[in-house]
Amino acid sequence: MPTDTKNSSQPAGRPSSELNVDLIKADFPILEEKVNGHRLVYLDSAASSQKPQEVVHALSQYYRHMHSNIHRGLHTLAERATVAYEKSRQHVADFIGGVEPEEVIFNSGTTEAINLVARTWGEANINEGDEIVVTEMEHHANFVPWFMLAQRKKAVIRKLPITVCGHLDLSEIDSIIGPRTKLVAITHMSNVLGTINPIQEIAALAKKHGALVLGDGAQAAPHLPINVRDLGVDFYAFSAHKMMGPTGLGLLYGRRELLEAMPPYKFGGEMISKVSFDEVTFAELPHKFEAGTPNIADVVTFDAALTYLERVGMNNARQHEIDLTGYTIEKLNSLNGLEIQGPQEVEQRGGAISFTDPTIHPHDISTFLDSRGIAIRAGHHCAQPLMRAMGKVATARASLYIYNDRSDVDALVEALVEMRKYFGL
Ligand code: ALA
Repeated sequence: MPTDTKNSSQPAGRPSSELNVDLIKADFPILEEKVNGHRLVYLDSAASSQKPQEVVHALSQYYRHMHSNIHRGLHTLAERATVAYEKSRQHVADFIGGVEPEEVIFNSGTTEAINLVARTWGEANINEGDEIVVTEMEHHANFVPWFMLAQRKKAVIRKLPITVCGHLDLSEIDSIIGPRTKLVAITHMSNVLGTINPIQEIAALAKKHGALVLGDGAQAAPHLPINVRDLGVDFYAFSAHKMMGPTGLGLLYGRRELLEAMPPYKFGGEMISKVSFDEVTFAELPHKFEAGTPNIADVVTFDAALTYLERVGMNNARQHEIDLTGYTIEKLNSLNGLEIQGPQEVEQRGGAISFTDPTIHPHDISTFLDSRGIAIRAGHHCAQPLMRAMGKVATARASLYIYNDRSDVDALVEALVEMRKYFGL
């Protein structure tokens, strides 16, 4: 619980934009870890967030008090587990703006959610010569499934490029999204640049041409208040593990009529209505897309993660991120020669902050910081087309969340100064 003592119910997220990060930090047991003799400074939440005690507790409670298979048992535990599983689905539906629970499909992660759409809607609707528009800043999860589909179908991938400042370059958008466009697949927030893309505006243009829009919300859903209907997307994919929840759980929102028309993705138990040697018919939504025993424990646990985020307040979380991102950019800019990739304007970006040093490789930066207890990510961040566009092979990336504060950023900057001395610079 985001509390100041174990039993208090005082919210760490206050009605104002001020978060009490000390209270929030106390909710995350892992932040008490020592790493290489230093306090852990966790700046890798874009890769995966840490979990508050109440989420860890919820997982244990599930296995202690309600574990059973769902939807098919007639005994008490089966009923408990089924109710908890469907309660979590309702919670997700509410969290993303009040959609219908049947429009929420559980799967293993953003990657699987996007593959589901490519393999079902894509196989059924993309034909030779059709165009799929992606941006140059997509994670491979929102590029490779479309690339493979385009290859299978002889369709065309079109690219929305980026500007040198790390925004989408929309100057040619009217010649990129047009009558041949069938789908626009776009990240809501870049995992490398932090850029928040104008999905609403792009979706409105796509709609004019009858194209569908898929939003990759892996980075945005943990950090921004989300309303998929306001965004104008037809599909929206995100992952539980980046938003306080357990690993191995993904969420796909799809508009009901689209999901209903789409063929199933996987075949087996739970997703059928009738099976005989002559005929197989499929279950209604959402079960049609949840073949086999699902990830029950993690779905149930995710309910607690969403409760935690709601208690903090997504608007508070966003305001905190704006403040801390601004502070981080200012501090990093004070290091001579350090280059930040992506927008500098905090209102237009999230807290994934990629940077490069003129002489020290990102992997060496990450290794040095780890020796000081600071966790960041370094590499191509599963975004090689973007790296190519930026003329980089890799970047170092510090990414922020609600349990980070200025002391974490100060530790990062001090360690970077120390690193330069260590390398004789
Ligand atoms: N997509 C995750 C990241 O950017 C894993 O680190």
